Amino acid sequence: MSKTIENLKEAFAGESQANRKYLAFAKQAEKEGYPQAAKLFRAAAEAETVHAHAHLRVMDGIGKTVENLKEAISGERFEFKEMYPAMIETAKEEGKKAAERSFVYANKVEAIHADLYQKALDNIDSAKECDYYVCPVCGYTCENEPPEKCPVCGALAKAFSKVE
Ligand code: FE2
Ligand code: FE2
Ligand code: FE2
Repeated sequence: MSKTIENLKEAFAGESQANRKYLAFAKQAEKEGYPQAAKLFRAAAEAETVHAHAHLRVMDGIGKTVENLKEAISGERFEFKEMYPAMIETAKEEGKKAAERSFVYANKVEAIHADLYQKALDNIDSAKECDYYVCPVCGYTCENEPPEKCPVCGALAKAFSKVE
């Protein structure tokens, strides 16, 4: 791999992380009553997304949708079959309860993402229209309407956000 390809991967990872971090910082600033700082965090977050997407495009990281769905499935599978199970074990061994829960939530939801992506791939030319809802606590993702209680974390239906 050329050094530049390596650099693009590293820069994509860094910009992606900066985006999520700034959005979390924006929420914190709102909570503390600093709306202007919050707005700046959101502005920079949006710019980091521009950088991340540009790097990804330059390294040919965006394929056609069928390809992208396959890649998404294999990424989700890796996470719930290998990555998170190992991380959960380590968190248990180290007695890191909060980390364990965070990994368990993500682990369960990645398996659901893999299924949803698989379904989308199977029905790529005959997809039925439906809405998606996301649990704000654990990320549980479902079709059509939110469950009364989140099956992963127990959050109530009214907390779910509808994806536009
Ligand atoms: Fe950036
Ligand atoms: Fe996922
Ligand atoms: Fe949840």
